[in-house]
Amino acid sequence: MSEYLSPPALAELPSGVSIRSAFSGDLGSLADYFESLSESSRYNRFMGSVGSFSVIAFECLIRGCRAERFTLVAEVEDSSGVMMIAEASYAFDRGKNCGEFAISVTDRWQRRGLGTALLCELQCRAVNLGFFDLFGEALKTNDRMKAFARKAGFEFTRSSDWRAVRFDKRLTGQASISPSCAAPDR
Ligand SMILES: CC(C)(COP(=O)(O)OP(=O)(O)OC[C@H]1O[C@@H](n2cnc3c(N)ncnc32)[C@H](O)[C@@H]1OP(=O)(O)O)[C@@H](O)C(=O)NCCC(=O)NCCS
Repeated sequence: MSEYLSPPALAELPSGVSIRSAFSGDLGSLADYFESLSESSRYNRFMGSVGSFSVIAFECLIRGCRAERFTLVAEVEDSSGVMMIAEASYAFDRGKNCGEFAISVTDRWQRRGLGTALLCELQCRAVNLGFFDLFGEALKTNDRMKAFARKAGFEFTRSSDWRAVRFDKRLTGQASISPSCAAPDR
């Protein structure tokens, strides 16, 4: 069952845009969304080339269908229908006691606050699940993501991948979390 999460907890969404949990029925649209990204956004999102977007979408939605993993999507609705324009995936690693995220915004919608709004929802959801340590990784050449992570309060550390930088954040003190981002219905 999908769940709409508007308004976002800590950031403004552009007008006409909503954020919700993704579910198995989104498999086709998520694969199409990944395919629609520009080559460079796609390369940066997956830190390399990917073979099949359906497989990636399957990993995000079907295999990820557990309490400690979730995917959020942002959609815009206009007269021609509803279009997926961004996604963010989260997975908590019990071994490392840390949650990892990855995010993308379709090229036309970048730099309009959507990534920030999605990340706020993701952080809020992680905290509501009881997970407070969050990290991400990006290619060293991915200046946009590095600027994005820096502005979002992440601290940079070394990655085990020589091509990448790692950024970490402790999600304490998120006192103003909205009840709108409660754990998803599964
Ligand atoms: C990184 C990404 C998710 C940012 O999303 P976004 O919606 O464009 O980000 P926002 O509009 O919320 O920007 C927030 C801040 O990030 C920084 N930022 C975002 N894009 C930037 C750019 N092109 N240049 C410099 N800084 C940038 C800025 O500090 C910005 O704040 P400001 O606009 O007030 O200056 C988006 O560029 C993207 O999808 N890139 C391709 C996929 C990718 O690289 N994913 C990373 C792998 S995890």
